[in-house]
Amino acid sequence: MSGKVHVMDHPLVAHKLTILRDKDTSVKDFREIVSEIGMLITYEATRDLPLTTKEVETPICRTIAPTLKGKKFAVVPILRAGLGLVDGVLRMVPSARVGHIGMFRDEETLEPHVYFCKMPKDIAERDIMIVDPMLATGGSAEAAITEMKKRGCKNIKLMVLLAAPEGVERIQKAHPDVDIYCGAVDDHLNEHGYIVPGLGDAGDRIFGTK
Ligand code: PRP
Ligand code: URA
Repeated sequence: MSGKVHVMDHPLVAHKLTILRDKDTSVKDFREIVSEIGMLITYEATRDLPLTTKEVETPICRTIAPTLKGKKFAVVPILRAGLGLVDGVLRMVPSARVGHIGMFRDEETLEPHVYFCKMPKDIAERDIMIVDPMLATGGSAEAAITEMKKRGCKNIKLMVLLAAPEGVERIQKAHPDVDIYCGAVDDHLNEHGYIVPGLGDAGDRIFGTK
């Protein structure tokens, strides 16, 4: 069985994605909106967090109320564009740890290679959310998931803003245990590996490096 693709079906996400797609959106607005959509997708991706209860005293009476069970969680951005989503996740789950994974692409084979990986010591015990704005061919995300599994991680989710059908298929085939949470699934990849219609180069637009 392949992993599920959870596409955000929400007017706020749709509206914000359109602003990101607009080539005239400023770097400042682009960065802020990436973070906001990160928050909104986190809301959906954390639906299955376990709850327990505790006693609290309201101004009116004592009551038993739900509280997070405190499952250990880590957000793992794929460098560099994934950094743009970290803040949004942390605003929803402030206790999360952050691991970083850096990837470069071999110019001949186009295959991604991990050049940097710095994780919390107890990463194998944590639920993992790998974040990257773009799932294009799926090569980077596939390699990042493989790296996390090598480190003993079992419960892994992937969060992206935009996905291409090609990338979704690749992840479902290579890692059928990983669910994908995304803002939208676009039409196709072009001959340069860019998502169409997409939003261009996410890293360049977040960091203003174009
Ligand atoms: C982009 C994006 C993903 C990758 C997606 O990163 O942020 O990491 O491409 O492409 P794929 O699905 O075909 O692997 P990029 O390589 O442009 O690096 P950057 O984050 O430094 O901009
Ligand atoms: N990486 C990006 O930043 N954008 C794309 O459309 C594809 C890969």
